[in-house]
Amino acid sequence: MAKVDFMDKPAPTSESIHALLKRRFSPLAFSSEPVTADVLRRIFEAARWAPSSFNEQPWRFVLARREDEESFERLLDCVIDKNREWAAAAPVLALSVARTTFAGSGQPNRHALHDVGLAVCQLTTQATALGVAVHQIAGFDVEAARAAFAVPEPFEPVAVLAIGYPGDPDALPAKLREKERAARRRMPLTDLVFAASWDRPWTGEGDAESSDPAPESAPGGGSASH
Ligand SMILES: Cc1cc2nc3c(=O)[nH]c(=O)nc-3n(C[C@H](O)[C@H](O)[C@H](O)COP(=O)(O)O)c2cc1C
Repeated sequence: MAKVDFMDKPAPTSESIHALLKRRFSPLAFSSEPVTADVLRRIFEAARWAPSSFNEQPWRFVLARREDEESFERLLDCVIDKNREWAAAAPVLALSVARTTFAGSGQPNRHALHDVGLAVCQLTTQATALGVAVHQIAGFDVEAARAAFAVPEPFEPVAVLAIGYPGDPDALPAKLREKERAARRRMPLTDLVFAASWDRPWTGEGDAESSDPAPESAPGGGSASH
């Protein structure tokens, strides 16, 4: 399968954003090219350095590489048919898991899922930098995954991650190919960011024209006086 350039599906952003964020997308087509252990280590190292509430680091990952056929199939079997259709081609699957209580106190950690999402975002961004794509999957059987990988309480399976190099959309069945080729859509910023009160869209304006001269000691603002 041909390797597809990440830039094939850049986000049509309304503002300029970092190239890695613009490039990232969730492919349905995966190349059969394996992802080496070296690359995977770097991807999970990025997850490791995510911020978390109280530095609790509630994220865990169970890795199922295609090379380990038995565990790969065990995780793939937990994925619903609609997702299995494309996820089966990914060279790596992983199960993200959250520790739902604080390790010290045993109290519920309300931000555990939030923090797992942050870790997956870092993982995904690092993957993008290495030319690797991540397609996250909510459509899987949580209890089947718990049983299949002996995930104990108070841990909770969160998502399955399909990881691999983007593949050739032309190799997909027609319906998936159409989906892969579809325009990427997002709600406008005005539906997402409010100012002053709920549901009052932030206009994106508000930088008062500064009449103050640049302070002398500011970087690039003139000669330092102290
Ligand atoms: C937590 C999570 C769960 C998802 N679950 C599925 C899924 O079950 N099946 C699927 O095809 N895509 C799934 N996706 C991918 C989203 O549909 C995708 O991110 C969204 O359509 C935006 O597309 P993009 O990632 O290419 O920008 C999931 C994404 C996230 C973050």
